[in-house]
Amino acid sequence: MPHLPKVVTEPSEILQIVRAAQREGKRVGLVPTMGALHQGHLSLVESACESCDITIVTIFVNPTQFAPGEDFEKYTRKLVSGLANVDDVGADIVFAPNTDEIYRQGHSTYVEPPAVSLPLEGKCRPGHFQGVATIVLKLFLMIPADVAFFGRKDYQQTLVIRRMVADLNVPMEIVVCPTVREPDGLAMSSRNAYLSSEERQRSLAIANSLQKAQQLYADGEKSASSVLTEMRRILEKAGIDRIDYVALVDPETLVDREDLTEPTVALIAAYVGATRLIDNQPL
Ligand code: PAF
Repeated sequence: MPHLPKVVTEPSEILQIVRAAQREGKRVGLVPTMGALHQGHLSLVESACESCDITIVTIFVNPTQFAPGEDFEKYTRKLVSGLANVDDVGADIVFAPNTDEIYRQGHSTYVEPPAVSLPLEGKCRPGHFQGVATIVLKLFLMIPADVAFFGRKDYQQTLVIRRMVADLNVPMEIVVCPTVREPDGLAMSSRNAYLSSEERQRSLAIANSLQKAQQLYADGEKSASSVLTEMRRILEKAGIDRIDYVALVDPETLVDREDLTEPTVALIAAYVGATRLIDNQPL
Protein backbone atom coordinates (compact mmCIF):
# COMPACT_ATOMS: atom_id res chain seq x y z
CA MET A 1 0.00 0.00 0.00
CA PRO A 2 1.52 3.41 -0.90
CA HIS A 3 1.82 5.76 2.01
CA LEU A 4 -0.41 8.72 1.08
CA PRO A 5 0.76 12.04 2.47
CA LYS A 6 -1.68 14.78 3.38
CA VAL A 7 -1.36 17.65 0.88
CA VAL A 8 -1.52 21.14 2.39
CA THR A 9 -1.47 24.36 0.36
CA GLU A 10 -2.18 27.03 2.99
CA PRO A 11 0.70 28.45 5.09
CA SER A 12 -1.66 28.99 8.08
CA GLU A 13 -2.67 25.30 8.03
CA ILE A 14 0.89 23.95 7.86
CA LEU A 15 1.93 26.23 10.73
CA GLN A 16 -0.91 24.89 12.88
CA ILE A 17 0.08 21.30 12.08
CA VAL A 18 3.72 21.92 13.03
CA ARG A 19 2.82 23.70 16.27
CA ALA A 20 0.34 21.00 17.29
CA ALA A 21 2.91 18.25 16.62
CA GLN A 22 5.61 20.06 18.60
CA ARG A 23 3.20 20.63 21.52
CA GLU A 24 2.89 16.84 21.64
CA GLY A 25 6.70 16.60 21.83
CA LYS A 26 7.07 15.37 18.24
CA ARG A 27 10.20 16.11 16.23
CA VAL A 28 9.34 17.65 12.86
CA GLY A 29 11.57 17.25 9.80
CA LEU A 30 11.45 19.43 6.70
CA VAL A 31 12.62 18.57 3.18
CA PRO A 32 12.38 21.60 0.86
CA THR A 33 12.18 20.70 -2.86
CA MET A 34 11.12 22.19 -6.17
CA GLY A 35 9.27 19.02 -7.20
CA ALA A 36 10.45 16.81 -10.08
CA LEU A 37 11.29 14.40 -7.29
CA HIS A 38 13.97 11.78 -7.87
CA GLN A 39 15.89 9.27 -5.79
CA GLY A 40 18.10 12.04 -4.38
CA HIS A 41 15.05 13.75 -2.87
CA LEU A 42 13.69 10.43 -1.65
CA SER A 43 16.93 9.79 0.24
CA LEU A 44 16.45 13.13 2.04
CA VAL A 45 12.91 12.08 2.92
CA GLU A 46 14.21 8.72 4.18
CA SER A 47 16.77 10.49 6.39
CA ALA A 48 14.04 12.77 7.73
CA CYS A 49 11.68 9.85 8.41
CA GLU A 50 14.42 7.97 10.28
CA SER A 51 15.08 10.76 12.76
CA CYS A 52 11.74 12.59 12.93
CA ASP A 53 8.18 11.79 14.01
CA ILE A 54 6.67 13.87 11.21
CA THR A 55 8.25 14.59 7.82
CA ILE A 56 7.06 17.49 5.69
CA VAL A 57 8.15 17.79 2.05
CA THR A 58 7.65 21.16 0.42
CA ILE A 59 7.13 21.41 -3.32
CA PHE A 60 7.49 24.92 -4.64
CA VAL A 61 9.24 26.03 -7.83
CA ASN A 62 10.64 29.28 -6.51
CA PRO A 63 10.58 31.89 -9.30
CA THR A 64 12.98 34.29 -7.54
CA GLN A 65 15.94 31.90 -7.79
CA PHE A 66 15.72 31.68 -11.61
CA ALA A 67 17.12 34.49 -13.76
CA PRO A 68 15.27 35.51 -16.93
CA GLY A 69 16.19 33.00 -19.65
CA GLU A 70 16.89 30.16 -17.19
CA ASP A 71 14.76 27.01 -17.05
CA PHE A 72 11.94 28.17 -14.73
CA GLU A 73 9.16 27.34 -17.22
CA LYS A 74 10.67 23.94 -18.05
CA TYR A 75 11.08 23.23 -14.33
CA THR A 76 7.46 24.10 -13.64
CA ARG A 77 6.34 21.61 -16.28
CA LYS A 78 8.54 18.95 -14.63
CA LEU A 79 6.75 19.68 -11.37
CA VAL A 80 3.60 18.13 -12.76
CA SER A 81 5.42 14.85 -13.35
CA GLY A 82 7.12 15.19 -9.96
CA LEU A 83 3.74 15.35 -8.27
CA ALA A 84 3.03 11.85 -9.55
CA ASN A 85 5.78 10.58 -7.23
CA VAL A 86 4.35 12.21 -4.18
CA ASP A 87 2.17 9.21 -3.35
CA ASP A 88 5.14 7.01 -2.61
CA VAL A 89 7.51 9.65 -1.31
CA GLY A 90 7.08 8.33 2.23
CA ALA A 91 6.50 11.75 3.78
CA ASP A 92 3.59 12.50 6.11
CA ILE A 93 2.73 15.88 4.65
CA VAL A 94 3.36 17.62 1.34
CA PHE A 95 3.21 21.40 1.44
CA ALA A 96 2.58 22.68 -2.10
CA PRO A 97 1.60 26.35 -1.91
CA ASN A 98 0.61 28.58 -4.83
CA THR A 99 3.11 31.18 -6.00
CA ASP A 100 0.61 34.00 -5.24
CA GLU A 101 0.39 32.82 -1.66
CA ILE A 102 4.17 32.83 -1.18
CA TYR A 103 4.93 36.04 -3.07
CA ARG A 104 1.89 38.16 -2.36
CA GLN A 105 1.10 41.33 -4.29
CA GLY A 106 3.73 43.96 -3.43
CA HIS A 107 6.30 41.48 -2.04
CA SER A 108 9.62 43.35 -1.97
CA THR A 109 11.66 41.97 0.94
CA TYR A 110 14.61 39.73 0.15
CA VAL A 111 17.42 38.13 2.14
CA GLU A 112 20.92 39.43 1.38
CA PRO A 113 22.82 36.13 1.16
CA PRO A 114 26.16 35.66 2.96
CA ALA A 115 29.60 36.18 1.42
CA VAL A 116 29.98 32.49 0.59
CA SER A 117 27.26 33.02 -2.05
CA LEU A 118 29.52 35.28 -4.14
CA PRO A 119 31.96 32.97 -6.02
CA LEU A 120 31.11 30.03 -8.35
CA GLU A 121 27.30 29.87 -8.71
CA GLY A 122 27.06 33.44 -7.42
CA LYS A 123 29.17 34.69 -10.32
CA CYS A 124 27.40 32.57 -12.97
CA ARG A 125 23.87 33.05 -11.65
CA PRO A 126 23.60 36.56 -10.17
CA GLY A 127 20.59 36.82 -7.86
CA HIS A 128 20.20 33.05 -7.56
CA PHE A 129 21.24 32.78 -3.92
CA GLN A 130 19.21 35.82 -2.94
CA GLY A 131 16.18 33.89 -4.22
CA VAL A 132 17.26 30.68 -2.49
CA ALA A 133 18.01 32.38 0.85
CA THR A 134 14.70 34.25 0.72
CA ILE A 135 12.53 31.22 0.00
CA VAL A 136 14.39 28.99 2.44
CA LEU A 137 13.99 31.52 5.25
CA LYS A 138 10.31 31.99 4.33
CA LEU A 139 9.79 28.21 4.42
CA PHE A 140 11.57 28.00 7.79
CA LEU A 141 9.21 30.68 9.15
CA MET A 142 6.10 29.09 7.65
CA ILE A 143 7.21 25.63 8.81
CA PRO A 144 9.21 26.04 12.04
CA ALA A 145 10.37 22.43 11.99
CA ASP A 146 13.16 21.12 14.22
CA VAL A 147 15.46 20.03 11.42
CA ALA A 148 15.75 20.58 7.66
CA PHE A 149 17.45 18.27 5.15
CA PHE A 150 19.41 19.32 2.05
CA GLY A 151 21.48 17.40 -0.49
CA ARG A 152 25.24 17.88 -0.80
CA LYS A 153 24.96 17.99 -4.59
CA ASP A 154 24.07 21.67 -4.18
CA TYR A 155 27.25 22.18 -2.20
CA GLN A 156 27.38 25.98 -2.22
CA GLN A 157 23.66 26.16 -1.42
CA THR A 158 24.25 24.14 1.76
CA LEU A 159 26.98 26.59 2.84
CA VAL A 160 24.73 29.58 2.12
CA ILE A 161 21.89 28.07 4.14
CA ARG A 162 24.09 27.03 7.08
CA ARG A 163 25.66 30.50 7.21
CA MET A 164 22.29 32.26 6.96
CA VAL A 165 20.87 30.12 9.76
CA ALA A 166 23.89 30.86 11.97
CA ASP A 167 24.00 34.58 11.17
CA LEU A 168 20.28 35.18 11.65
CA ASN A 169 19.90 32.89 14.71
CA VAL A 170 17.32 30.77 12.92
CA PRO A 171 16.34 27.93 15.30
CA MET A 172 16.66 25.17 12.71
CA GLU A 173 19.09 22.26 12.65
CA ILE A 174 20.51 21.72 9.15
CA VAL A 175 21.42 18.20 7.99
CA VAL A 176 23.33 17.76 4.73
CA CYS A 177 22.90 14.33 3.11
CA PRO A 178 25.28 12.66 0.62
CA THR A 179 24.77 13.03 -3.13
CA VAL A 180 22.83 10.13 -4.63
CA ARG A 181 24.26 8.86 -7.91
CA GLU A 182 23.06 6.73 -10.79
CA PRO A 183 24.88 3.35 -10.95
CA ASP A 184 27.28 4.83 -13.53
CA GLY A 185 28.14 7.80 -11.29
CA LEU A 186 25.98 10.63 -12.68
CA ALA A 187 24.68 12.72 -9.77
CA MET A 188 20.88 12.57 -9.56
CA SER A 189 19.30 15.84 -10.61
CA SER A 190 15.91 16.93 -11.85
CA ARG A 191 17.74 18.43 -14.83
CA ASN A 192 19.05 15.01 -15.96
CA ALA A 193 15.61 14.48 -17.48
CA TYR A 194 16.38 17.19 -20.07
CA LEU A 195 19.34 15.19 -21.47
CA SER A 196 19.10 13.25 -24.74
CA SER A 197 20.58 9.73 -24.55
CA GLU A 198 23.75 10.94 -26.27
CA GLU A 199 24.05 13.86 -23.81
CA ARG A 200 23.31 11.53 -20.91
CA GLN A 201 26.32 9.45 -21.97
CA ARG A 202 28.60 12.49 -22.34
CA SER A 203 27.47 13.93 -18.99
CA LEU A 204 29.33 11.08 -17.25
CA ALA A 205 32.52 13.03 -17.91
CA ILE A 206 31.53 15.36 -15.05
CA ALA A 207 31.58 12.59 -12.43
CA ASN A 208 34.67 11.08 -14.09
CA SER A 209 36.49 14.40 -13.92
CA LEU A 210 35.70 14.72 -10.20
CA GLN A 211 36.79 11.14 -9.60
CA LYS A 212 40.06 11.83 -11.37
CA ALA A 213 40.64 14.83 -9.08
CA GLN A 214 40.00 12.61 -6.07
CA GLN A 215 42.41 9.98 -7.37
CA LEU A 216 45.17 12.51 -8.11
CA TYR A 217 44.71 14.03 -4.64
CA ALA A 218 44.84 10.57 -3.03
CA ASP A 219 48.02 9.81 -5.02
CA GLY A 220 49.64 12.88 -3.46
CA GLU A 221 49.39 15.45 -6.27
CA LYS A 222 49.83 18.85 -4.61
CA SER A 223 49.47 21.22 -7.55
CA ALA A 224 45.91 22.50 -7.94
CA SER A 225 46.62 23.75 -11.44
CA SER A 226 47.77 20.29 -12.62
CA VAL A 227 44.57 18.72 -11.25
CA LEU A 228 42.39 21.44 -12.79
CA THR A 229 44.05 20.91 -16.19
CA GLU A 230 43.35 17.18 -16.02
CA MET A 231 39.74 17.78 -14.93
CA ARG A 232 39.11 20.14 -17.86
CA ARG A 233 40.80 17.74 -20.27
CA ILE A 234 38.31 15.00 -19.34
CA LEU A 235 35.35 17.33 -19.85
CA GLU A 236 36.60 18.67 -23.15
CA LYS A 237 37.35 15.19 -24.47
CA ALA A 238 33.65 14.40 -23.97
CA GLY A 239 32.71 17.54 -25.93
CA ILE A 240 31.78 19.48 -22.78
CA ASP A 241 33.35 22.81 -23.66
CA ARG A 242 30.82 25.23 -22.23
CA ILE A 243 32.23 25.16 -18.72
CA ASP A 244 31.08 27.69 -16.12
CA TYR A 245 33.72 26.59 -13.64
CA VAL A 246 36.03 23.79 -12.62
CA ALA A 247 37.28 24.64 -9.14
CA LEU A 248 39.33 23.32 -6.25
CA VAL A 249 38.41 25.30 -3.17
CA ASP A 250 38.41 25.48 0.61
CA PRO A 251 35.35 23.47 1.76
CA GLU A 252 34.06 26.26 4.05
CA THR A 253 35.03 29.55 2.40
CA LEU A 254 35.12 28.39 -1.26
CA VAL A 255 38.38 30.32 -1.73
CA ASP A 256 40.51 28.81 -4.55
CA ARG A 257 43.27 26.46 -3.45
CA GLU A 258 46.73 26.74 -4.99
CA ASP A 259 48.27 23.82 -3.10
CA LEU A 260 46.32 20.70 -2.27
CA THR A 261 47.82 20.29 1.18
CA GLU A 262 44.54 20.63 3.09
CA PRO A 263 40.99 19.31 2.68
CA THR A 264 39.57 20.59 -0.59
CA VAL A 265 36.35 20.28 -2.51
CA ALA A 266 36.27 19.94 -6.28
CA LEU A 267 33.29 21.52 -8.04
CA ILE A 268 32.10 21.61 -11.64
CA ALA A 269 29.33 23.49 -13.40
CA ALA A 270 29.07 22.85 -17.13
CA TYR A 271 26.56 22.60 -19.95
CA VAL A 272 25.89 19.32 -21.68
CA GLY A 273 23.99 20.51 -24.73
CA ALA A 274 21.57 23.10 -23.36
CA THR A 275 21.43 21.56 -19.87
CA ARG A 276 23.50 23.05 -17.08
CA LEU A 277 24.69 20.44 -14.58
CA ILE A 278 26.57 20.87 -11.31
CA ASP A 279 28.41 18.32 -9.20
CA ASN A 280 31.11 18.24 -6.56
CA GLN A 281 33.42 15.91 -4.70
CA PRO A 282 35.19 16.51 -1.40
CA LEU A 283 38.82 15.39 -1.77
O1 PAF B 1 17.57 22.81 -3.85
C1 PAF B 1 16.43 23.15 -4.21
O2 PAF B 1 15.65 22.35 -4.73
C2 PAF B 1 15.99 24.59 -4.02
O3 PAF B 1 17.05 25.47 -4.21
C3 PAF B 1 15.32 24.83 -2.66
C4 PAF B 1 16.28 24.63 -1.50
C5 PAF B 1 14.12 23.91 -2.50
C6 PAF B 1 14.81 26.27 -2.58
O4 PAF B 1 13.88 26.55 -3.58
